[in-house]
Amino acid sequence: MEQGQRPGRRSLLGAAAALGAGAVVLGGGAGQASAASRGQGHGGHGDSGSYKDLPVPTVVGHRGGSGYRPEHTLGSYQFALDNGADVIEQDLVPTKDGHLVCRHENDITGTTDVASHPEFASRKTTKTVDGEAHTGWFTEDFTLAELRTLRAKERIPGTRGHNTLYDGRWQVPTFEEVLKWADEQGRKRGRRVWLHIETKHPTYFRKAGLGLEERLAKLLRRYGRSGRNAHTFLQSFEPSSLQRLNKLGVDCPKVLLLDDLTTRPWDFVEAKDPRTVADLITPKGLRWVAGFAQGIGPWLNLVIPRDKNDRLTKPTTLVRDSHAAGLIVHPYTMRNENSFLPADFRRGTDPNAYGDVFGAFKTYFATGIDGIFSDNCDTAALARADFVKR
Ligand code: G3P
Ligand code: CA
Repeated sequence: MEQGQRPGRRSLLGAAAALGAGAVVLGGGAGQASAASRGQGHGGHGDSGSYKDLPVPTVVGHRGGSGYRPEHTLGSYQFALDNGADVIEQDLVPTKDGHLVCRHENDITGTTDVASHPEFASRKTTKTVDGEAHTGWFTEDFTLAELRTLRAKERIPGTRGHNTLYDGRWQVPTFEEVLKWADEQGRKRGRRVWLHIETKHPTYFRKAGLGLEERLAKLLRRYGRSGRNAHTFLQSFEPSSLQRLNKLGVDCPKVLLLDDLTTRPWDFVEAKDPRTVADLITPKGLRWVAGFAQGIGPWLNLVIPRDKNDRLTKPTTLVRDSHAAGLIVHPYTMRNENSFLPADFRRGTDPNAYGDVFGAFKTYFATGIDGIFSDNCDTAALARADFVKR
């Protein structure tokens, strides 16, 4: 597998924000496994609650409909549900008083108006989270009551200027509020709403006395989402978080997220386990993952690497190897803007303009993936419709 995958995944959104601020000139299937052969349907929502009944490739609304609304808000989740997502994603972090809230990271500087609250100015600080220094404001330094005085805003206004229309409209949602919203929306639709829930920085928070998994398990039980067929996926970059959820008796299908090849899950770093992502995606590594999870969520570049010019190369054997280990594959993240697409599918010179996204989806779907995280669920759903009727 090639490694020409720069800039690193974690810096991509920041890079897009920088690109969006100014003019930048942009350049211009194999191994498909049958979803049906793995017992997964193409046809629509059976409502057994089993992931095997979801349409394939499954469209996961990444942070809701984050291409159109400030991420991880009820507005973003509602947009995703109303516009083609089969499953809606939540990322979870805790408050100081132990409530789970939906944010992509505990640093809320870029996605809330906290910086404009003088009463919280003294809370600005620098912390090292999973080995990286961050300066800003952090959820674990706020009680829920304090956090609820803030308002969510668009993360990348330079790229998604239209979304700033909604800045200030929504609060940071609690996870319990989202569970209630999902129940209510399910009742209206006559079918339960699927969720894809990620534990963020679980080792970091456990060391801070704010373990995520017990709190998550309690809420999942309370809302009837802890079973095998409970319309719920659980995901984490840290294997031990998924293993802990298993030990807590939470039987939802679990998806191990995978970053760049050379990285190590943070729980491995803390435990001095030398294995990297490259080790985990070998057939042996995948068999190990299948001991506690039902799927993987790889960075898209692990499915089809990019070369030094950001063009797609040959698909790896990851999808085939995962299926051989009994694991489904939900890669992340498809976004419609040129700045995020492989160079093969960019159109024109505006980094914020949409590229040939349908071409990109077709290429990724042809690898046999079972689902895809996308900021643009409506586009992903149309691409899926094209793909299944081909
Ligand atoms: O959880 C899938 C995808 O969201 C993983 O990346 O960093 O956006 O949470 P991240
Ligand atoms: Ca996530």
